[in-house]
Amino acid sequence: MEENRKTFYITTPIYYPSGNMTIGHTYTTVAADTMTRFRRMQGYDTYFLTGTDEHGQKIEKKAAEAGVSPIEYVDKIVAETKELWKLMDIEYDDFIRTTEERHIRIVQKIFRRFYEQGDIYKAEYEGMYCTPCESFWTPTQLAEKDGVKVCPDCGRPCQPMREESYFFRMSKYQDWLIDYIETHPDFIQPAKRANEMLTNFLRPGLQDLCVSRTSVKWGIPVDFDEKHTVYVWIDALSNYITALGYGTEHDELFRKYWPADIHLVGKEIVRFHTIYWPIMLHALGLPLPKQVFGHGWLLFGADRMSKSKGNVVYPQPIVARYGVDPLRYYLMREMPFGADGNYTNESFLTRMNADLANDLGNLISRTVAMIEKYFGGILPAWDVSAEDNTGNDLRKHCAELPALVDAQMDRLQFSQALAEIWKVIGECNKYIDLTQPWILGKDPEKKGLLGNVLLTLAECVRFVAVLIQPFMPSTPARIFTQLGVTDESLKTWESLKCFGMLPDGIRVCKGEALFPRIDVNKELEALSGKPEAEKQEKAAAPKAEKKEKKEAKHDEPEFPAEIAIDDFYKCKIQAARVKACEKVEKSSKLLKFTLSLGDDGERTVVSGIQKYYDPAELVGRQVAVITNLKTAKLAGIESQGMILSAMDKNGNLKLVSIEEGVEDGAIIG
Ligand code: MSP
Repeated sequence: MEENRKTFYITTPIYYPSGNMTIGHTYTTVAADTMTRFRRMQGYDTYFLTGTDEHGQKIEKKAAEAGVSPIEYVDKIVAETKELWKLMDIEYDDFIRTTEERHIRIVQKIFRRFYEQGDIYKAEYEGMYCTPCESFWTPTQLAEKDGVKVCPDCGRPCQPMREESYFFRMSKYQDWLIDYIETHPDFIQPAKRANEMLTNFLRPGLQDLCVSRTSVKWGIPVDFDEKHTVYVWIDALSNYITALGYGTEHDELFRKYWPADIHLVGKEIVRFHTIYWPIMLHALGLPLPKQVFGHGWLLFGADRMSKSKGNVVYPQPIVARYGVDPLRYYLMREMPFGADGNYTNESFLTRMNADLANDLGNLISRTVAMIEKYFGGILPAWDVSAEDNTGNDLRKHCAELPALVDAQMDRLQFSQALAEIWKVIGECNKYIDLTQPWILGKDPEKKGLLGNVLLTLAECVRFVAVLIQPFMPSTPARIFTQLGVTDESLKTWESLKCFGMLPDGIRVCKGEALFPRIDVNKELEALSGKPEAEKQEKAAAPKAEKKEKKEAKHDEPEFPAEIAIDDFYKCKIQAARVKACEKVEKSSKLLKFTLSLGDDGERTVVSGIQKYYDPAELVGRQVAVITNLKTAKLAGIESQGMILSAMDKNGNLKLVSIEEGVEDGAIIG
């Protein structure tokens, strides 16, 4: 019954409509939509909220640059955003805009309540402010780049700012929040993000937060002190409850769906969602969301996408050429949710061919074609007299598949969930090769067995079609058409409780290839507008430098979930002896190495590890070096390789060492 169904409330961050949404914003939104569809299929009463965060200095500035009013500016982007979500088959229940009256009124009410109950007080404030991120930073939090104080999140310069402001007594709730996070291990996911919050922000002590601005006009006025506007993060975070009608007479949705099951957020805004937001909610006497999941970034060329760097990818041209489902599939499959990953046209196109055209597409076309050929297109009945032992494992595995997928989805491991489904697809293709239906078809006595093989395949295809519905909303319908499944009850999660539900007598219907194979090189040119070779050349140099920076910082890796062994063999890793090592002049980070590779001669390698080693102690030591990396100029020196190292748990870098007895120049692999 409707009333008894379990609820599931999921949100995306509300996006800044300062520019058009990129493939990065699309990533989060597709993840939320996929999760919603999955839970809905399982019978949950779902609610999916997204929207736009429209106030603040950044928008004010953008609008001024465009010569329009802020609302005119955001209206246009919001309209385009909604179009994009429609294009991507995103089915949200509500789209909240922070400029809507329903939101403004309640934010004012919340702010007033904080003030009246003593959580907010008025004082003078001076600090460094990052306009693009709308964040104040304390001196210890600021980063430094070329002698300039920069934002630790985005790396752009911060400006000093002084104003009379209202402050939220965050410090008052600090101990409660530490305890809450420690006793609710599922609250912040992945778990390492909880550690980051505790170590970097909570345990060192929370500063009271400046929660109003007099300098920002484009914001929600503090209704009891109108020269102030509410700090955008207080305004924005409240959306998760204002959209449900919290604080109004019509708060049915709030009562039904709060607390949220999942706030999906990018890792850079985990802090706001796991420190400020819980404290705000606690101060309002409300329960906290069950989980905040901080996912990784979709990078481009190992770098974060940004308009200013000119490396932004938009989904529209990709969708126009290949359709929505391949892009949705790719976004959810390519990288583990939580880790960073690289978007490349090449990896997208490769997956289209390998996973969609070859694995899935072929399975369906082979299955349907064989039913046509050997049974006149009519699914035969199961023949109990014809044993098919080869298929036992496959049938068992497929019957278990829904539970395997569910377990991965519980942890928001979209990529692993798809990997589970694709394992079964792979097994089906192997099963065809093993049972060789084209041989069985020649022997009239094997007709029963042949029928059982094809029935097994058809039922596996049905399982797959049901399970990929949340990921690829329009592909399953095409599969069901080919399979001749019209009965809606065979397309449900419920129908997967038991393997072997496909009734005999169904008429299959061979159609066009679901995902035709594409010529990757040709498509690469079409997508980039220029020959691929030229593009790769351009990308290589800055990437090599980036890699060096990453190496020094040991930022999070951005690995694909799996690579082919051939990819690994592309790296030439050799044992090398340090013949000389010295600090690079004028650099506080770099060491210059002269390395001996035995018969392969000598190499100069520059590495950003000065902080961790005294150059003298490294001379004579053997290290592992990638020697076929494109050379990169670092501090004016040509570096001809990369020395391998790892970070220990205390943040100290350690060189990879090799056991005694290996000759200099020996290949590692
Ligand atoms: N307005 C705030 C959020 C307020 S929530 C109460 C904001 N907006 S944003 O437009 O900058 O969008 C940030 C979110 O977009 C990220 O947290 C992430 O979910 C998503 N992404 C934008 N670019 C992304 C990538 N390149 N990769 C992955 N996610 C990205 O912050």
